[in-house]
Amino acid sequence: MSAPKILAFAGSTRTASFNKLLVRFAADAARAAGAEVTVVDLRDYPLPLFDGDMEDHEGIPENGKKLKTLFREHDGFLIASPEYNSSITAVLKNTLDWVSRSETDDEPALIAYRGKAAALLSASPGALGGLRGLVHVRAILGNMGVVVLPEQAAVPKAHEAFDVGGRLKDERTARQVTGAAKSLAEFLKKFVG
Ligand SMILES: Cc1cc2nc3c(=O)[nH]c(=O)nc-3n(C[C@H](O)[C@H](O)[C@H](O)COP(=O)(O)O)c2cc1C
Repeated sequence: MSAPKILAFAGSTRTASFNKLLVRFAADAARAAGAEVTVVDLRDYPLPLFDGDMEDHEGIPENGKKLKTLFREHDGFLIASPEYNSSITAVLKNTLDWVSRSETDDEPALIAYRGKAAALLSASPGALGGLRGLVHVRAILGNMGVVVLPEQAAVPKAHEAFDVGGRLKDERTARQVTGAAKSLAEFLKKFVG
């Protein structure tokens, strides 16, 4: 049985993003649980806002194709995202939208998503840790055919939550985050075979 492959990324492009710290911390836990994890930064794949006319005339942008290939090459997704006004961030939704598009008429719909699994995390300087946004991320991924695991974790007061090495200081929060990442790795081991 080969190691399950997980694509990990944050729903924020900000250089000092707490969610980038969080997803890297969780990626280490998924690796420790036996998964092969690729961490990508959406900042490295800038995309225009989805526009149907642009798609008709030019097709999917190069970075959209690169991300779609990455999504297709992995069995599951580990996503840490802030909430913006209680919902999904624009950069995450736009990425998910471009990756959802078919490149040819005979390509099966939602090929980058169907039959995959995901675990969700969030971090925010606020008291709820971005938890409300995950409700929407969960629904969107679920509607695209991704099995989103029940285990998730939100990191409140994110500006105080990490030490200089990028580790979560609070033991309980760290356990929740590593638990969600480990669940994804374990689930994929059974799911992918
Ligand atoms: C447009 C916008 C809306 C936001 N809305 C929320 C919100 O609803 N809840 C929340 O906890 N934080 C909210 N924030 C604050 C973000 O959680 C904070 O900027 C966080 O650091 C972003 O995540 P990052 O550090 O990974 O970039 C918002 C920030 C922006 C820019």
